[in-house]
Amino acid sequence: MTTVITFGTFDVFHIGHLNILERARALGDKLIVGVSSDALNMRKKGRWPIYRENDRVQIIAGLKCVDEVFLEESLEEKMTYIRQHKAAILVMGDDWQGRFDGCSALCEVVYLERTPSISTTSIIEVVKYL
Ligand code: CTP
Repeated sequence: MTTVITFGTFDVFHIGHLNILERARALGDKLIVGVSSDALNMRKKGRWPIYRENDRVQIIAGLKCVDEVFLEESLEEKMTYIRQHKAAILVMGDDWQGRFDGCSALCEVVYLERTPSISTTSIIEVVKYL
């Protein structure tokens, strides 16, 4: 049984999110997703998410490709989460390329290419100026 773990905010859920989760799941037998808490997103991106953390967790948990979801409270705890969930593979988008190479002491670290031309930020910008 190969467990894959990945992390993200997944605010205003879009096709780039679905693509990376499906590709992450295809690397193993079980996919666990750490969804960034509202407070972590504020620290990480300087804004509160549009969707509250409980709704984001529920959306991710409802996907066919996702087996388990938890709330990620701290960016620095990746190693703890990997150990807790006995993950064999850590998947990150290539916007994080190299940032989590330190975790390779614990598991394989795979950076997947982002889906081009879409992000939560760009959706928010478009909607703002409609
Ligand atoms: N992701 C992706 N392709 C995109 C957008 C996101 O593969 N076009 C991936 C990210 O690399 C990450 C996960 O989806 O692994 C969650 O990303 P998140 O930061 O929540 O989404 P973004 O759309 O990048 O959000 P923002 O614009 O707020 O940075």
